[in-house]
Amino acid sequence: MLRIAGLNAHLGRSHVLQGVDLDLPKGRICAVLGRNGVGKTTTLRTVMGLVAPSGGEVRLDGRDVTGWPPHLVARAGVGYVPEGRMIFPDLSVRENIRVAERRPARRWPPARLFELFPLLKEREKHLGAHLSGGEQQMLAIARALVGDPSLLLLDEPSQGLAPIVVRELGGVIRRLKEEGVTILLVEQNLRFAEAVADEIRIMVKGRIVYAASPDRFQAEEEAIRSRYLTL
Ligand SMILES: Nc1ncnc2c1ncn2[C@@H]1O[C@H](COP(=O)(O)OP(=O)(O)O)[C@@H](O)[C@H]1O
Ligand SMILES: [Mg+2]
Repeated sequence: MLRIAGLNAHLGRSHVLQGVDLDLPKGRICAVLGRNGVGKTTTLRTVMGLVAPSGGEVRLDGRDVTGWPPHLVARAGVGYVPEGRMIFPDLSVRENIRVAERRPARRWPPARLFELFPLLKEREKHLGAHLSGGEQQMLAIARALVGDPSLLLLDEPSQGLAPIVVRELGGVIRRLKEEGVTILLVEQNLRFAEAVADEIRIMVKGRIVYAASPDRFQAEEEAIRSRYLTL
């Protein structure tokens, strides 16, 4: 489904991605963990075409999409939910979804989105600015689904959410997996990543340095955490 090989990217003078390799088979959920500033967001932005790579490649179902502009990457089936959600504060829930629709949604028409996110249905006419953090996150995901992605990139979706909302988010992610959506998830919340992901990856200084199943990661976590994750 997604194959990232030897991906390099520079931001200003810093060499942020230094050869990222990551294979994500269709229908799987992969969580990428790592300290602040190691290049997790840049990886997602480079896949999405928002950062120009300086080397390496990104393939979707075998097709080389490296360096494609974001709208073509989106059309090739990639949905992106950025860190901080970026919903429109002055638009209602319904309008936030509607502006993402390029044509009538096929797999995720509003009725189906509202079935997946019942809370958004209740808030349909509320402004984005008046939603809780959890509702904003659900809306950001709903908006990405309107584009009918087969691959969803989620940047720290659990950030700032109360534990009960994080659990709800986990339910949504699992449901999306059942619907066949492949998910690349960047996270700081280890428990959450372990609970939802099929595969764990750890990034250090612009490279993936560790790959394991959640079970193995859990077993090795003590050592791994101090080595790669805590400050
Ligand atoms: N616009 C930019 N110009 C220069 N450096 C940047 C820019 N954006 C991010 N960086 C740097 O790139 C590195 C990786 O950032 P990022 O991908 O956001 O990390 P993460 O998501 O893992 O916290 C950081 O060291 C950050 O300071
Ligand atoms: Mg980040």
